[in-house]
Amino acid sequence: MKTFDVDLDERSYPIFIGGELLARPELLAPYIIGQQVVVVSNETVAPLYLEQLKASLTAFNCESIILPDGEQYKTLEYLNRIYDGLLTARCGRDVTLIALGGGVVGDMTGFAAASYQRGVNFIQVPTTVLAQVDSSVGGKTGVNHPLGKNMIGAFHQPQAVLIDTSVLATLDDRQLSAGIAEVIKYGLISDEPFFCWLEENMPRLLARDDEALVYAIERSCHNKAAIVAQDEKENGIRALLNLGHTFGHAIEAGMGYGKWLHGEAIAVGTCIAADLSRRQGWIDEVAVARVMTLTKAALLPTQVPAELSVAKFNELMAVDKKVKAGKLRLILLKGIGEAVVSADFDSDLMNASIEAYRES
Ligand code: NAD
Ligand code: GLY
Repeated sequence: MKTFDVDLDERSYPIFIGGELLARPELLAPYIIGQQVVVVSNETVAPLYLEQLKASLTAFNCESIILPDGEQYKTLEYLNRIYDGLLTARCGRDVTLIALGGGVVGDMTGFAAASYQRGVNFIQVPTTVLAQVDSSVGGKTGVNHPLGKNMIGAFHQPQAVLIDTSVLATLDDRQLSAGIAEVIKYGLISDEPFFCWLEENMPRLLARDDEALVYAIERSCHNKAAIVAQDEKENGIRALLNLGHTFGHAIEAGMGYGKWLHGEAIAVGTCIAADLSRRQGWIDEVAVARVMTLTKAALLPTQVPAELSVAKFNELMAVDKKVKAGKLRLILLKGIGEAVVSADFDSDLMNASIEAYRES
C-alpha cells in the first residue's frame, strides 16, 4: 500500500492506495470521531461493495443511504434524500459520512457533509478510476443545476481517501476510458514525462495491468495533491485542473446529463483546447496530433454530435465558474506539460475550434 498526504495544514489528510483496502478496518477507524457512520452509495455499487465495507465498520453504528445511479440524479432533489436519511437516523454533528462510489456519489456525499448541520466529517472511498484520480481528492463537492454543471456546491475536504484498486475489476471498459481522460489531463497540465509514459503504456492501462493502473492512479493523485496544496479554493493555479472542462461541461449539460460520461466530454473538450492553443500559435500541429492520438488510444471520443451547435456551446459556457467580469477564461496549452489560464484568446478562433470538433 502507498500512503501520502494532501498537505493543507490543519485540514491535511491521507490518501491510501492499494489492493483489498476495503477489508482493512484499521485504515478507516482513526478518521471516525463518533460512533455513528453513514455510508452513502448507489444502486450499482452498493450490491458489489457495501457489505465488504460494512464488515470493516463493525466497531461503529453503521447505516447506509442508497441513491439511484446516474449523473442525472446529481441534483438538489436527490441530495435531499441524504439529508432525509441522516435526520431519520437522528445523526448528530459527530456523524461520519462515507462516500462509496464514483464521482457522483463522492460529490453529493461531500456536499451533504459540508452542509448537514453546518458541516460534518466524511471519508472518500472512490470506486471508479475517475473518482480515484480526481474527484475524491481536493474537497470540491456539489450538485448540478439544469443551467450549469456543478453550480451548487462547497469546498469541504475529506478526513481521508481510501483508494482500493481491487474494486476496479467490476468497472466496465467505457468507464475505465472515461477515467483515463482525467489521467491524461495531469500529463498535459504539468507532467510531460507522465504524458510520455501514457503514450507508451496506454495498452497496459486498457488491459487493466495492475502495476500500470496503480502507477497511473498514484502519479495522478500526487499531481492533484500538489496543486490543491498550493491553491485549495481555486484562486489561481487550481484552475489548471479544469483543462478541457469548460467545453466538456457544455457538452454534458448540452447533451443532457448522463448521456455523455464526464470523462468522455472532458476528452473532447481537451482536444478542442489543444486545437485552440494551436490556432493561437502557442503549440504546433505535432502537439495537437499527440493529444488526439493519445485520446483515441484511450478509446475516448474526439468529436461531439453536430446537434450541439457553436451557439449552444457559447450559451452554456457563459455560466462557467471561471468567467470573471463577464469574460470567459480557458485553460489552454503552451506545450505538452504546460497549461495556462487565459482570457487572452480570440473568440473567433475558439468558435472555429469548436466547429472543427463537431461531427459533420
Ligand atoms: P459515476 O459516479 O457516475 O460512476 C460511473 C458509473 O460506474 C456509475 O454507473 C457507477 O454506479 C458505476 N460504478 C462505480 N464504481 C463501480 C465499480 N467499482 N464497479 C462497477 N461499477 C461502478 O461517474 P464518475 O466518472 O466516477 O464521476 C463523474 C462525476 O465526478 C461527475 O459528476 C463529475 O462532475 C465529478 N467530478 C468531480 C470532481 C471533483 O473534483 N469533485 C472531479 C472530476 C469529476
Ligand atoms: N477537478 C478539478 C478540481 O478538483 O479542481
